[in-house]
Amino acid sequence: MKHIISNKSFNLVGSANIPGDKSISHRALIIPSMCIGKTKITGLLESEDVFATMNALKTLGVKIYKSNKSWYVNGVGIFGFREPTKYLDLGNSGTGARLILGAIMGSNILANIKGDGSLSKRPMDRILNPLKLMGAKIISSNDNKLPVTIKCPKDVLAINYHSKISSAQIKSSILLAGLAASGRTTVTEPNESRNHTEKMLSNFGAKINSKILKDGSNRVELKGNPILKGRNINVPCDPSSAAFLIVAGIICPGSKIKLQNIMINKARDGLLTTLKEMGAKIDVFNKRELDGETVASIYVEHSQLKGILVPSNRVPSMIDEYPILSIAAACAKGKTIMKGITELRVKESDRIKIISDGLNKAGIKTIEKPDNLTVSGGNIDGGCTIDSELDHRIAMSFLILGLVSKQPIKVLRPSTIETSFPNFYNIMTELGANFFKA
Ligand code: S3P
Repeated sequence: MKHIISNKSFNLVGSANIPGDKSISHRALIIPSMCIGKTKITGLLESEDVFATMNALKTLGVKIYKSNKSWYVNGVGIFGFREPTKYLDLGNSGTGARLILGAIMGSNILANIKGDGSLSKRPMDRILNPLKLMGAKIISSNDNKLPVTIKCPKDVLAINYHSKISSAQIKSSILLAGLAASGRTTVTEPNESRNHTEKMLSNFGAKINSKILKDGSNRVELKGNPILKGRNINVPCDPSSAAFLIVAGIICPGSKIKLQNIMINKARDGLLTTLKEMGAKIDVFNKRELDGETVASIYVEHSQLKGILVPSNRVPSMIDEYPILSIAAACAKGKTIMKGITELRVKESDRIKIISDGLNKAGIKTIEKPDNLTVSGGNIDGGCTIDSELDHRIAMSFLILGLVSKQPIKVLRPSTIETSFPNFYNIMTELGANFFKA
């Protein structure tokens, strides 16, 4: 598929089944691999990123297979990964690469890890530095980016790590390595990032505590050497994928969309808060617990939005949602100012630049600063071509923008959407989106 063209659409009406959460799916493969015994997973996201993690774990000697509609993982324990005889190729997946580097620390192996063009440009020193403190030897010929070679230590050292960035990937990589240390490992981050690793490790038997400190920072403490036992996991639906349908329903006239079983973890709900502040009609109901995570149904309908200021302390709870929020902002009356978003520059693409340039091409005014972005809502001309830059969320965001622009928007290299939301095209067209593949 070379491109998808998105045309003006009205009345997106109906319900849709959103696939499993990507963050939890990675963890649902990695953590059970470090267990004793078998884990059954239902609702796993079957996307390229998750398959990259799965293949890396298989290369590390873990047996993972599908039977009926569930996936099974036979754990090898915290110290049991086999030395790989080929590269661990994590493709486009930053989460896969960073978490696996931490997870293998206890296995005293040597591993070579690589990724695709996008992942090879992303910073890795943020996890390589703490892993070195824990005893790893690391060689990178690419300025601390992938590909890297890691020699895991004989004995992993417990550390107290203060991260300057609120990042679940940094926190999780250190905690997974800390499982193999004999003492207590702590990670402190400026604001709480998504806490799926902590929740899942606790469900599997680890002793782990989180505390919000007086200055607002989040401190997680893990006791090393736990006995992790395999158990069943149900993966809830991904709020970051649901976000595209939520915004589509709000900006397309005549739309009414209902979604079920969407995870509404506090550390992931920043987009819903922001859209409500912008005036969106959103109803979250039927809340219930699913394996330690809260899920709910979400109903949205077409709403007139107004621009707002999105504060920097909200960034961790909606880090992946700024591309699609920018599309909502383009449809709002007035300016939306998104503050403190520097981290967006090191995602699958430089998202601040790509969103800003793409919106300008479509006729929307923006102001791009190193760590913030202002979008002035207005007439969306469209009639432009946007390259995905191998960033799934950029591709989906501009396809949603095409639904409300005067002229169609063409998105190049859309197959990157397979990394997180393989049935996006089908779900959207079934709801009534005028998308065409070529
Ligand atoms: C993720 C954490 C976030 C997010 C990414 C998934 C995770 O990255 O952007 O898509 O599963 O831990 P950071 O932790 O680097 O902010």
